[in-house]
Amino acid sequence: GRRITVRDIAAAKSRGEKWPMVTAYDAMTARIFDEAGIPVLLVGDSAAMVVYGYDSTLPVTVDDLIPLTAAVVRGSSRAMVVADLPFASYQGSPQQALETAARFLKEAGAHAVKLEGGRRVLAQAETLVASGVPVMGHLGLTPQSVNVFGGYRVQGRGESGEELMADAKALEAAGAFAIVLECVPEELAQRVTAALSIPTIGIGAGPSTDAQVLVWQDLAGLTPHTAKFVKKYGDVAGELDRAVRRFADEVTTGVFPAPEHSYH
Ligand code: KIV
Ligand code: NA
Repeated sequence: GRRITVRDIAAAKSRGEKWPMVTAYDAMTARIFDEAGIPVLLVGDSAAMVVYGYDSTLPVTVDDLIPLTAAVVRGSSRAMVVADLPFASYQGSPQQALETAARFLKEAGAHAVKLEGGRRVLAQAETLVASGVPVMGHLGLTPQSVNVFGGYRVQGRGESGEELMADAKALEAAGAFAIVLECVPEELAQRVTAALSIPTIGIGAGPSTDAQVLVWQDLAGLTPHTAKFVKKYGDVAGELDRAVRRFADEVTTGVFPAPEHSYH
């Protein structure tokens, strides 16, 4: 079968279908999510935290994310793979954005890119779209701007909601195919979703968005502490902890390897 495309994403909104997006950073998890039918996999710059161990998304580089993106593309066959453009790899100019996006498409095989911000990166979005690169926007709590926000806090309350609405409309006009809304009041997300003909993808944005996204380590229960908007659908941390403790115990007691694990 073929991959999901931006046309499928657009068709889902016109049919009123909701869909899930999850992050992925390696081939094995990408295969699991792909086979589970997740239509869009995001190689998020959240890799800075969940893969590389930084405490924000700012330090991660294009060189850090290219191999992860390539692995997710190799591990999947049906999902559309969206690559996050990391901090300071696109804000400088439309030319810089195109050069960075081109690396994700040429070297890693990504199908689209995501960038943070609205009107302040509109020229970048327009140049990418004009060059044939599908663009996913990201508004609200944009973690690359954490130092401007003064922490990870809800965005778009009160009058700043109208700014976010204007950014969303500008991104749509620039040709973005979808927009992530992170950590905004659900009433605002609902209004933006109704005002746009492209899908909104919520994370901490309530139930009205066209799609929902979570970091897989959060939804699977691998991350120790998560935000209020996360629902834990598994206990991967507990399962891994039990497995590695049983292995360690059986090695020290000589139970493993047993005859069936040995060659003769
Ligand atoms: O980097 C990331 O994981 C993201 C999603 C949470 C939207 O940008
Ligand atoms: Na991100």
